[in-house]
Amino acid sequence: MSELRAKPSPFLNVLDGFPQKTPPLWMMRQAGRYLPEYREVRAKAGDFLTLCYTPELAAEVTFQPIRRFGFDAAIIFSDILVVPHALGVDVRFEAGEGPRLAPVTDKAGLDNLRRLLDPARVQPVYEAITRVSSELPRETALIGFCGAPWTVATYMIAGQGTDDQAPARLMALRDPDFFQQLIDRLVDASIHHLRAQIEAGCDVVQIFDTWAGVLDPHSFERWCVRPLRRIVSAVKASHRNARIIAFPRGATLEGLEKIAALPLNGISVDWTIDREAAKARLGDKVAIQGNLDPLRLIAGGPQLDEEILSIRKDFDGIRHIFNLGHGIKPETPIAHVEKLVEKVRETL
Ligand code: CP3
Repeated sequence: MSELRAKPSPFLNVLDGFPQKTPPLWMMRQAGRYLPEYREVRAKAGDFLTLCYTPELAAEVTFQPIRRFGFDAAIIFSDILVVPHALGVDVRFEAGEGPRLAPVTDKAGLDNLRRLLDPARVQPVYEAITRVSSELPRETALIGFCGAPWTVATYMIAGQGTDDQAPARLMALRDPDFFQQLIDRLVDASIHHLRAQIEAGCDVVQIFDTWAGVLDPHSFERWCVRPLRRIVSAVKASHRNARIIAFPRGATLEGLEKIAALPLNGISVDWTIDREAAKARLGDKVAIQGNLDPLRLIAGGPQLDEEILSIRKDFDGIRHIFNLGHGIKPETPIAHVEKLVEKVRETL
């Protein structure tokens, strides 16, 4: 379906193999609490999941950052925890506390998971995608997403976010067979969810592995690289023109190289990587997306202008998508985002 749209988009061009003089720009978490118009719709929806599951509202907040800043890509408004929710897990978002899930920690918990994603929970997401896709400007691409199995598993096991993901890491060490089964279920669910988002109208899908950085190299291979390989291969096998970006946050350069060897179109990198090394070791294999520290965007001033320029220069000549190294934070001043857009689009 997305192939039929044949959109001339700088973002898609980069992913398809063509570097752009001015890098395309979008921001992870670009629809969110730093925008007053988001907070308004969020208050109207009441509950965060209600916002995710009401196609008109999810479509509306997806459009908000596009209207305001004219980014090169929109990302469908949803959450990575929609997948465990659609597998039957009780998921809630408590105000100011982040997500709370009914933990899945044993075989009985696994047996309770649905085999197929609950249509009542994923269908509204696909409906929102179809709406957005039909109304977006031709040059603006639409991104769908899921969480990587490892990252989603960390929330399913702990039942909430933690600083170091110790509950999931301990579980993977104590009972690798159980952990593998949970990962396998999430691999299947992710494949279904990504395929359906592409069919609903997404031009690109991104896989968020927010907690990839807490694993040793052996565990990184087993719990991040292998599941990602299975997802990417399956999606590319059924949807030959699918474009996929991976975001293994916190991964080492060696780890990033392993991910770049998969049949991906792009890798998103955080602000801790050495840009020259990343350019040399990944730049001829995939598009590189990143990597402004979201705190620099909060702080603003000359350091922000200088860093934007450095990022552009360091990644000049390769396929680069300008983005943050992680999601934008609620306290970010809108004027700083406006400055970012201006600086990224300035002629060098
Ligand atoms: O990027 C976008 O604009 C699309 C929407 C999007 C959200 N979450 C909306 C959201 C995306 C892509 C995500 C991904 C996501 N969700 C990740 C991976 C990326 C990352 O930031 O690390 C993770 C780990 C989650 C899980 C999650 N969702 C947490 C831990 C929280 C609470 C903390 C927080 O940032 O608020 C959420 C809630 C959430 N997801 C909000 C938004 C806009 C804020 C909730 C609110 O409005 O009350």
